[in-house]
This record gives sequence, structure tokens and C-alpha cells, in this order.
Amino acid sequence: MKSVLPERKTLHPLDIERRELAPAAARAVRALAAEISDTLTRLSEPAECSRTLTDPALIDLVDQRVGELPGDVRAAVRPPEGSAGAAILGTLPVSDATLGATPDNWRDAARQAGGPGHRESLNLDIAVLLLARCVGEPFGWAGQQAGRLVNNILPTPGHELEQSGASSTTLLSPHTEDAFHPDRANLLMLACLRNPDAVGTTVSSVLRVDLDATDRALLGTPTVPILPDVSYGDAHLGYAAPPLPTLWNDAGNGTDTTHPTLRYDPAYTPLDNACPAFRGAYARLGAELERVCVTVVLAPGELLLVDNDVAVHGRVPFTARYDGTDRWLKRVNIRVPDRKRRRAEADENGYGQHTVAPFGRAPFGRAPFGRAPFGRAPFGARTGRAVAERETTPDGRGRREHS
Ligand SMILES: [Fe+2]
Repeated sequence: MKSVLPERKTLHPLDIERRELAPAAARAVRALAAEISDTLTRLSEPAECSRTLTDPALIDLVDQRVGELPGDVRAAVRPPEGSAGAAILGTLPVSDATLGATPDNWRDAARQAGGPGHRESLNLDIAVLLLARCVGEPFGWAGQQAGRLVNNILPTPGHELEQSGASSTTLLSPHTEDAFHPDRANLLMLACLRNPDAVGTTVSSVLRVDLDATDRALLGTPTVPILPDVSYGDAHLGYAAPPLPTLWNDAGNGTDTTHPTLRYDPAYTPLDNACPAFRGAYARLGAELERVCVTVVLAPGELLLVDNDVAVHGRVPFTARYDGTDRWLKRVNIRVPDRKRRRAEADENGYGQHTVAPFGRAPFGRAPFGRAPFGRAPFGARTGRAVAERETTPDGRGRREHS
């Protein structure tokens, strides 16, 4: 499908929500993260802790101390509220000089964090975990970056053309994060550490698309499945692939556009099995998502919050440097307490993929960030600890790298 996304490069467009953290508040986040990091390295084996960030001591420290953050920090990390389905949050102080070289694969990034010359990476991991914990439950995937709660997104040699966060020279097509799975994140947090070539992250919100009632009704009808991306290998072949709706709302009809939810990953949706009418509606949805696309160029220290229930995201192509100065993002999946999803999702098998979810419900005991009165779907099987090392390939990077 031809895309106009590569041509779009808008610096911090006005039609996306932006929230500023006061410098003192931003410094408070970094200071608390550094303090937890210091405590942790005295209590635990730093290399093992940084590998997955699921050490119980770290989880406990985050939960015990996140309430110490200034109230305006916790308020700033609320779900996006505008029609863009995303918000830019600025700006955490990031020291490029102490960050060390950008690793060229996620495994090295995890292994090095917290080690000599890479303490800044671990401290930023903890900072984004604290921010994510302000809004909900950060979680990882057992089959993704070894279950690490904070993923490193960086270009990797040999993966330039993949539909994955390790790619570079290809357009990363707009998609719902982990669209194939009922436990997919409600919110996605992307924190920029380094972006020297001003590479754009794209966001398209279904709240801004213009579709008629006929198309909405077609897209709301379970018609085709969404399969796990290729980085999951053939594991999905042993599972039933039920048809899913693409776009729906709480009223369950094609006319209510008040609270739409989008579940969209065209690269892994077998449209050939759908009728022409559905394919036409799906194509018009894709064209609308391109029309309303916003490209955000994150600067170091800025974060992008994406509502994964209403917005799809992607990345424009770029040429990787592979010299230690490459673009480097941290990514966190977040479950928002009591955000409702279709009840039918509780019956999905998730193609055998499981989350790593060591955090409990939000620690503040406040009203949850709900969005729409959908039937609550249980989150299914969850592991409390990252127990499975990834399958490995000859290049040692593992075979399940996706974003
Ligand atoms: Fe993604």
C-alpha cells in the first residue's frame, strides 16, 4: 500500500496535545529514579536486575516511592485527552555525554544498562517506569526482549527492512501495538534518549477519521483475524485465528462514533479472505488514517504517550548510523486500570503469548482512568516474572523483536 507518511515531517504540530513538566518536577523524577537505582544496586545483582527490570526489590521500590513524586508529575502522565489520541510530555533532563553509545541491539542494551558507563540508561529505565506507574500497570511480554518491562528501541544491523522497532530504512507501518492480543496495552509510552536525525514517529487517531455509517458497520463486524507479526515465528499456527472487529464502539452499531476503539495492523491481517465490501471499507479506513497522520519528532528527554485503543503509530524510514549515536527510545506498555474492552476478547487465545505483569493495580487508590463503559475483559494469563529466555538465532539477537 502506498503511503504518504514518509513525506510528512511536522515538528511538534499544534494539533497534538503537549504537556510541560516544570524543570523542578522533571528533576524530581530523575532524582527519585537515581535514588532507587542506588538502593537497588546495593540490594541486588545489577546485571541481573537490569536484564528484565522485574526484580521484586525494584517493583517494591517503585510502588513504595512513586507517591513521592510531585502531584503535577502524576497529573501530567494521564492518558491523552485530545482527538489526536496522543500527547507529548516534556522534558526530562537527559545527559547525552553520560548516556554512552547507542547499542545496536536490544540484548546488549539490557545487558549493559547499569554497568560501567551505562548507569544513565538504567536510571532512565527507572524514570520511565515511575512515570508509567503514575498512570497504570507497566508490563512486558515474555516473548519480547526477554520480558523486559522497558524495551530499548534502536536500529539493528540486519533488521533494516523488518516491520519492527529494530528496523530503519523501511516505513514502520501504522499499527495498534500488539493488535493480535487481547492483553495489548491501553497506553504506550515512548521516551526519547537520542534522535540526532530528527526521525519522526507517526500517530493517526481514529477519533479524527471520517467514515460513513456503512463503513463503520462493516469494520465493526468480525471478519478477519489479526495474526502475530513475523517476529513471533510460526507459534501462532497451532492456534485458532478468530475473526475480529477492526473498529467498534460501546453501542455496538455503526453510527455511534463517541467512543470508538481501533484494533488495526494491516500488515498482519489476511484481507484476501474478506469480501470486497469489507476490503473497501478497510481501504477507506487506511486512507483516512493517512490523511489525519501527525508526525512527531521527539527530542531527547521528551516522551510520547499514545492511546493504543484509539491511535495507531509508526515511524518514517531513516538511515541508521551504526556508530553509537543512533536514535534510541525507551518503550513501556501500560495497562490502564478499569479501561474497558469488548467482553468477547476474554475468550481469545492470544496465540500463546503472555504478558509479564509484576505490578498490581495503580497505587494511588484514585478514580481510574476509564474511557468508555465497555464490558470488562479479564486480562487472561499473566506471568509474575520473566522466566523464559528468548529463542536465539545465530546472530544472538533472538528471533522475537517487534514493536
Ligand atoms: Fe509499535
